[in-house]
Amino acid sequence: MGRANKVVLAYSGGVDTSVCIPYLKEEWGVEEVITLAADLGQGDELKPIKEKALKSGASVSLIADATESFVKDYAFPAIQANALYENRYPLSTALARPLIAKLLVEAAAEYGADAVAHGCTGKGNDQVRFDVSIAALNPDLKVLAPAREWGFSREETIAYGERFGIASPVKKKSPYSIDRNLLGRSIEAGPLEDPNVEPLEEIFLMTKAIADTPDQPEYIDIGFEQGIPTSLNGKSLDAVSLITQLNQLAGSHGVGRIDMMENRLVGIKSREIYETPALLVLIYAHRDLESLTLTADVTHYKRGIEETYSQLVYQGLWYSPLKGALDAFIQQTQERVSGAVRVKLFKGNATIVGRQSANSLYTPNLATYGAEDQFDHKAAEGFIYVWGLPTRVWSQKVRE
Ligand code: ARG
Repeated sequence: MGRANKVVLAYSGGVDTSVCIPYLKEEWGVEEVITLAADLGQGDELKPIKEKALKSGASVSLIADATESFVKDYAFPAIQANALYENRYPLSTALARPLIAKLLVEAAAEYGADAVAHGCTGKGNDQVRFDVSIAALNPDLKVLAPAREWGFSREETIAYGERFGIASPVKKKSPYSIDRNLLGRSIEAGPLEDPNVEPLEEIFLMTKAIADTPDQPEYIDIGFEQGIPTSLNGKSLDAVSLITQLNQLAGSHGVGRIDMMENRLVGIKSREIYETPALLVLIYAHRDLESLTLTADVTHYKRGIEETYSQLVYQGLWYSPLKGALDAFIQQTQERVSGAVRVKLFKGNATIVGRQSANSLYTPNLATYGAEDQFDHKAAEGFIYVWGLPTRVWSQKVRE
């Protein structure tokens, strides 16, 4: 008896996940491997991937069309949470993992598999996100991670695959490790491993170099309903079209590049490059609309929730009870976050230059310095007396 009977493997079509198929069967005694490739809008042709899995020894090769769910059920809640890990990374890769885990668990149930598998190594965040999400959704399911144990170098992986008819990659392998989906691209390794070296222009696909961006700014209007982006320049759009079009618009102005040192969950610092044009613009715009429509105390309190939320998502705890509780808080705050935000895209910057909402809490007669001012200036004196009272008492005491 091997480690499992029937396994559903998360499949990308690359050499590593292809090699997982014969490896699971030959080394770990798995009888049947079913592959599952998730379409998350990464733009790959999925038909060759489907065939490659079958040629590599899979009994069934599934393609899950999950782009819409990815945007609506994972990206939109993260936008409502203004989720930025370490204040910068909008979690474009991290958000995909709990969804892929869910698809794996569902396929395992459908096909009566006793385990699921993935090709992650033991160094990254993604293994944690997969394993913990799978455990949350079905704690009885085994999770197999061949690449965490096989100890193959790149050459050994290719050689092992060739023994089972898996063609070695035609193109010379790029030095970079890249993850991509509709929300963005994450690029690591190769020359980027020196944190002091500027990324080469060749790594970017979704964002233009500043030198190649238009010399005129472009203004866009983003409409939100209850914290969810629903329109672009006054036109209602479905979730996937909105992200696709905004990626294009913002990317053409060089907006959305991030170069950061990141603290991985497994304790390693890594240098990460991201390009996430639409997601970043939407978070900035959403946060701005919140500052118009939420009270001061909710706005301030939510910042702390957002920080915790971002960490939970990064750390693989999407399906945890704390994340569920924070979701409930965030949902409650979004009820009146509707309106439109005007963004100026220019030379790599997305600057918020206007906002409006029927739920705006901005009160011109209170804010103005002009003649229409209705604020009771005299009332401030009593307020300040009470507000400053503890400080006054303290100060008198320490002077005694
Ligand atoms: N560091 C990012 C994260 O943990 C991306 C990881 C995957 N990136 C990659 N190039 N393989 O979300």
